[in-house]
Amino acid sequence: MSPYTVGYFVGSLARASINRTLSKALIRLAPPGLDLVEIEIRDLPLYSYDYDAAYPPEGIALKDAIAAVDAVLFVTPEYNRSLPGALKNAIDWASRPWGTNSFAHKPSAVIGASPGALGTAVAQQSLRSILSFCNSPQMNAPEAYIQFKPGLFTDDGEVTDESTAQFLRDYLAEFEIFITRVLSVVPPRA
Ligand code: FNR
Repeated sequence: MSPYTVGYFVGSLARASINRTLSKALIRLAPPGLDLVEIEIRDLPLYSYDYDAAYPPEGIALKDAIAAVDAVLFVTPEYNRSLPGALKNAIDWASRPWGTNSFAHKPSAVIGASPGALGTAVAQQSLRSILSFCNSPQMNAPEAYIQFKPGLFTDDGEVTDESTAQFLRDYLAEFEIFITRVLSVVPPRA
């Protein structure tokens, strides 16, 4: 069996993003059955439906990237108790033009890190609501609210705490099972 390709979004555009570091940790810890590739959101203009008649190359590239993967994974910070605007903008781009929503029937999962004790829980609830509307089957459990503490990860994503590393391995293993379940019940149409 070839691995599932999972397109991951990093919700932060910051150079020192702790969520980008988390994404590096997930790549390191992913099981052989998951191949993680980034779907970039940095260069997208701000969405308007004025673009719908002629999507720009950035919007087309985003939709093509999502179409090319088996599932999507959102690795996101919490900004003001919601998801960052850059990530919401990318979701808006991908959900349009009307009738071509890229997330429909695409399995998804959500994870995030913040220094605070809530570990992006509120942002994840916002994101889950959006993904419901976008008709993406979401992995409900395990939830993954990572409290970032200095030294928990090295800059290149090595996890220094074994219980956190094992939690992330288990999370990814569950995601692989979830993708299998979703895609086995009704495989996507060609
Ligand atoms: C934050 N931060 C934050 N943290 C949190 O737990 N809940 C929140 O609502 C917010 N709100 C918020 C708004 C804005 C505009 C910023 C810049 C930051 C702190 C945030 O968790 C911290 O900056 C993380 O480092 C953000 O993750 P990235 O961008 O480093 O991946």
